[in-house]
Amino acid sequence: MERSIKDSILNNKQYLGEKNYSQKSFLWENMTMGTCYYPEHWIEELWASDLERMKAAGISVIRIAEFAWSKIEPRESEYDFSFFDRFLELCLEKEIKVIFSTPTATPPAWLTEAHPEVLNARIDGVLYRHGSRKHYNYNSPVYQDYCRNIVTQSAMHYGPHPAVIGWQIDNELNCELRDFYSDADDAAFRVFLQEKYETLDALNAAWGNVFWNQTYTDWKEIHLPGLTPGKGVNPHMQLDYYRFIAESTFLFCKMQADILRSYCKPGDFITTNGMFPHIDNHRMTKECLDIYMFDSYPNFAFGLGSNPANEPLNDRWNSKTQNEVRSICPHYGIMEQQSGAGGWTTKMEGPAPRPGQLTLWAMQSVAHGADFISFFRWRTCTFGTEIYWHGILDYDNRDNRKLREVKDFYQKLQTLEPVCNADYVTSFGLLKDYDNVWDMEADIWHNRIASYSDNEIFAGAELSNLPYDVIYLQKDSTLSDLNSYPVLIYPHPVIMSQERADLLTAYVEQGGTLLIGCRSGLKNLNGICEMLPQPGLLHELTGTDIQDFTYASPAEEAVYADWNGTNIPMPVFHDILTPLPGTDVLARYADSYYKGEAALTEHRTGKGRVLHLGSAFSRDTLPMLLKYAGAVSPFTELIEADGKDVELTLRRKNERTFLFVLNFQAAEVSYTLLTPMRALYTGEEVSGPQMLPAFGTAVYEVL
Ligand code: GAL
Repeated sequence: MERSIKDSILNNKQYLGEKNYSQKSFLWENMTMGTCYYPEHWIEELWASDLERMKAAGISVIRIAEFAWSKIEPRESEYDFSFFDRFLELCLEKEIKVIFSTPTATPPAWLTEAHPEVLNARIDGVLYRHGSRKHYNYNSPVYQDYCRNIVTQSAMHYGPHPAVIGWQIDNELNCELRDFYSDADDAAFRVFLQEKYETLDALNAAWGNVFWNQTYTDWKEIHLPGLTPGKGVNPHMQLDYYRFIAESTFLFCKMQADILRSYCKPGDFITTNGMFPHIDNHRMTKECLDIYMFDSYPNFAFGLGSNPANEPLNDRWNSKTQNEVRSICPHYGIMEQQSGAGGWTTKMEGPAPRPGQLTLWAMQSVAHGADFISFFRWRTCTFGTEIYWHGILDYDNRDNRKLREVKDFYQKLQTLEPVCNADYVTSFGLLKDYDNVWDMEADIWHNRIASYSDNEIFAGAELSNLPYDVIYLQKDSTLSDLNSYPVLIYPHPVIMSQERADLLTAYVEQGGTLLIGCRSGLKNLNGICEMLPQPGLLHELTGTDIQDFTYASPAEEAVYADWNGTNIPMPVFHDILTPLPGTDVLARYADSYYKGEAALTEHRTGKGRVLHLGSAFSRDTLPMLLKYAGAVSPFTELIEADGKDVELTLRRKNERTFLFVLNFQAAEVSYTLLTPMRALYTGEEVSGPQMLPAFGTAVYEVL
């Protein structure tokens, strides 16, 4: 093969300098295309022609073995490495590189039968049984032992193989099930809490257990949040439960990563795939992995297929998730990129990608920062739950339009070689943190506001072509993680800590503009409401005081605020702001009993300022707010295009700028290039009016 991928990986373990990414950033040297392959699903006679056809299509990497425990250890302590030995030899011969996986996502029947304690349980204690996947729990010492063993055996045996270039841990941690209620989890929860709180008094206070007589007098009385009457769950306990699941997932991943690291060849990477709830993906990536891989199924992004409620964005919602992925790992890979219709026999009835959509969706990933695209899967399985989860090839194994499109995508990808490792360019940053993400799950008031804003900020930014990064505030976050963004939105930091308030203050003082919305600073890290004037610890920074607040009443007409004669919507919730001395009022409520009160304020501190919006964010107001805050579009001098028509992204490397234009619609669209550019697919120099066909993509280098 041209330049060895292995060598690229060896030579390119480096960290980015320009933006201060505190997260790990593995760099690919070449744009690389792959697929997911299951040698165990096919007769061996097919292997050689499969690998040859892959190679001919431009596929140079495959991911294998994530569900194949029994192919290595068919019965307890009986090892047979011959199956994958034969397959890896063939890969070497056919010059296909391999990402080998640990098979812990599917414990074998001999194990679950002998040790049912390895199984996960429903909230009411009923065990999940063998017959699907992800039926195990992270905390069973028995399962951990078996996992340590199979990972060690696999890594020792296959790690040195020259075809292997990297390792995937498990498959999609927390996919299918992200809640754990087995006896092992119950016991581990108590240990987690004992380590965290040390005394029962501290735990009782942190959880507000005096409420409804929940006080514990012995550690053994504490269990995982279980079935309770009337949906009444202690929210503070629930918040710690999510932290506990995240910790359990992290430790399970780290256990495997540590083993792999001691046996895999120097330079081989360790990764995992997917992005699922109740995981601190940032910490997991930083402490366990070399690169994070996402599984991109755009038809999942906001419901399967076209849903009128999601128009006009539909599959563009997948870009929202990719913004999150980039926050974990700026130069990520796509381990599974949708290539066919999605469906299980028991759920999901998805449409096939229209001609052009397979390329469009893959380019959406590249446009956001992925330099490795691996299609799921080479060929649709003819048996099992996923017979309708279609791959590139169909059951008949003939060349088809999807394979032709994969080949065509590869031709395009090769022209994007200079884009490899380029950084995504943004107008602003969106702050998040796991305390608030998990509190949202435990608290529907928090959820209603924060999910509304999260979606609307994406929609508003997307429709007005204002690209953004997501930045998760973590324990070790510093000012340098923030100060490359002139404008930051922290929509609803309902939970606020003194450290975070200090960091935000430092950011504003050195010249940043911070936008925050309603309900900010309401709770402490345990999710307990602060007995402080709101916005609590942010009070001084925002220069506001909140003496009255309410959900936007469903019984009333929508409430607006008047911002210099423009009516701006004030969705979901209203903090009625009282400006403190030195704070300017930009907009006032135009309706309801608080008509005339402040709805949007501006407070200058040091060289920067804070804009405080009394409600959730809406897509209509977002561009106005960002403009006022000083966020600039990176596209202004490059292209004139309607955000409703196309998604635009920019990637930049060493002064070279690449513009992606993506048309998600089933109709032709037009736009105007304002400066000469080179169309990378064709090499032509172009400027002025351009057309993109239905589902078309174009990538330009700005000249
Ligand atoms: C992913 C998973 C794959 C396959 C695919 C289609 O979530 O990693 O193994 O199941 O979805 O359902």
